[in-house]
Amino acid sequence: MELDELYRTCRSVRRFEQRPVPEKVLHEMLEHARLVSCASNKLPLRYIVVKSPDMVAAMQPLMKWAALLPPEIGAPKEDELPTAFVVVIQAAGAGAFRDVDTGIAVSAMTMTAWKEGVGSCIMGSINVPKVRELLHIASADTPRLALALGYPKQTGYTVDVPVGADIKYYLDEQGCFVVPKYQMADIVRIV
Ligand SMILES: Cc1cc2nc3c(=O)[nH]c(=O)nc-3n(C[C@H](O)[C@H](O)[C@H](O)COP(=O)(O)O)c2cc1C
Repeated sequence: MELDELYRTCRSVRRFEQRPVPEKVLHEMLEHARLVSCASNKLPLRYIVVKSPDMVAAMQPLMKWAALLPPEIGAPKEDELPTAFVVVIQAAGAGAFRDVDTGIAVSAMTMTAWKEGVGSCIMGSINVPKVRELLHIASADTPRLALALGYPKQTGYTVDVPVGADIKYYLDEQGCFVVPKYQMADIVRIV
């Protein structure tokens, strides 16, 4: 896929096929996350790849899916759960831009995964104490989010809307996520 098509089609995926994410894809995602820009080059991020079936299963109850939808519509069913996670950790002493750094790294990972046909959903609503306990993360480090991964069993698409329109995502009749995005003319000013 060309870069433009990657960005146009890379939607959050919340229903997954039950087959593993290849090692090669996980490695490439982390390699790109490792290389991206970072404020003052502080390099505050650490990563835990969760891929063993037991640990993947233990992670599943520790997050909240699609807060804008009722769980029976927004959350994956038992046979649609993600098959891997990358947990992004902000190490002790991470600077003021740690969330920006996290976003840049996670974006690199989502795009790299999608290039290989692997879907993802950035999970910010995670149970931090429980994730910390499960993965034995030191108390000075912070698990900031988990990237849920797997081959998509669901697609999504965007619709352009004006600023002020309803921007809640929803499911269409086929069960695809419809994700409003503000139209260009309303959010960009050129001087
Ligand atoms: C920082 C961040 C945190 C998010 N946390 C969650 C989450 O906890 N649960 C979830 O289902 N989706 C989560 N998402 C996915 C957003 O809901 C999704 O990106 C948004 O609805 C737009 O859809 P799109 O990614 O398909 O463009 C998160 C996204 C970002 C960027």
